[in-house]
Amino acid sequence: MSRTNAHPTRPRRALAVASALLLGVTTALTASAPATAADERVDNPYVGADVYVNPIWSANAAAEPGGEAVADQPTGVWLDRISAIEGNDSPTTGDMGLRDHLDEAVAQAAGEPLVFQLVVYNLPGRDCAALASNGELGPEEIDRYESEYIDPIADILSDYEDTSLRIVTTIELDSLPNLITNVSPRNTATPECDVMLANGNYVNGVGYALSRLGAIDNVYNYVDAGHHGWIGWEDNFAASAALFHEAANANGATPDDVHGFISNTANYSALKEEHFAIGETINGTPVRQSSWVDWNNYVDELSFAQALRVELVSQGFDPGIGMLIDTSRNGWGGPDRPVSAGPTTDVDAYVDGGRFDRRIQYGNWCNQAGAGLGERPTTAPEPGIDAYVWMKPPGESDGSSTEIPNDEGKGFDRMCDPTYEGNPRNNHNMSGALPDAPVSGHWFSAQFQELLANAHPPVQ
Ligand code: BGC
Repeated sequence: MSRTNAHPTRPRRALAVASALLLGVTTALTASAPATAADERVDNPYVGADVYVNPIWSANAAAEPGGEAVADQPTGVWLDRISAIEGNDSPTTGDMGLRDHLDEAVAQAAGEPLVFQLVVYNLPGRDCAALASNGELGPEEIDRYESEYIDPIADILSDYEDTSLRIVTTIELDSLPNLITNVSPRNTATPECDVMLANGNYVNGVGYALSRLGAIDNVYNYVDAGHHGWIGWEDNFAASAALFHEAANANGATPDDVHGFISNTANYSALKEEHFAIGETINGTPVRQSSWVDWNNYVDELSFAQALRVELVSQGFDPGIGMLIDTSRNGWGGPDRPVSAGPTTDVDAYVDGGRFDRRIQYGNWCNQAGAGLGERPTTAPEPGIDAYVWMKPPGESDGSSTEIPNDEGKGFDRMCDPTYEGNPRNNHNMSGALPDAPVSGHWFSAQFQELLANAHPPVQ
């Protein structure tokens, strides 16, 4: 498929080429520079490239009944702790370190362009509004984040600068949006997010990651942008974009270090709701006022991601930025998927009867019952969207349903407990989580089976 809004070449590159021409070094350039992707950042790294298949995830998927059908799909490689860089043999990341993955990626690439998807996820005071992935670094440990986590990653990636790999990094999911929605004086505030806002370590950590990784020619940084059920409201949307811009100017970063943004990472928000829309009115009540939509300006990820792109550009990001959407678990297929709109008797019946996303409330985020695999990874599926990706490896848990002691920095969040009755962040609804889940990142066979059964598009 093709995109209609072709992006201009990155300005930095255009400048470099222009000055090379002025200096009359064209011949030298063409003679010495091999025609690999590493020499020039392309507009959309996914175009004309394969995407890395993580052998560890692939083997887990293939070992499940029916899993072979998706086991060759590309998924993100998560560096969720410092020790994951070298490889720590944990049930989460397995025995491959970053270098092992990159060597395997070079082999898979066989000299052709190949996207390698890396999830950078280890901020100080990580996941300040939840406990399931609250991490190994304390709120003040920004120095360790920089010197023991980002610097070694940057050093290793630099060794692969002159390969045909295009390294897509997604930067610190759930961090910056937490500083908008989960801080005082909102009733959704947590003390931990108040601390991370006050000490500046999310903003400075993201800035550092962007600047160090963005200095590597074949790295494409995508900043995490939550999802529509988080920052799609008026008072969160523009404020989040402004904060992303602040982080992109912090600690050595510039907006040029940002190639784009990713939405819905490890979340369940539907890609396209087809049976109701913002702007419709049912029996005198706007869809926005249904209890499901609850005054949000978006009903799905595609419309949200496209609108956020425009907002980000208006706030100072390059007009060439592109969006990624994580579609690993937002399919919501299977026998319960509505085939038409709900009845028009009242707005709630209409929206609830027609919606694909069958969560109890869209603030629910942990191991959601009824979810299915979403769109398979796809390049440039829609205007402004660089790719649909499976950044969260489907089948890996979001968090344990009961407390399980571990040495991975994983707490117990009751949003992963199916008996939990909720908190202000999901408007006091049941959690909707599957029972018997292992700690986050560990293989959750029952969830994988359900994702397969409820896949949409269905798995053939
Ligand atoms: C976990 C990570 C894991 C990732 C991907 C996160 O929720 O905290 O340890 O690598 O999910 O499954």
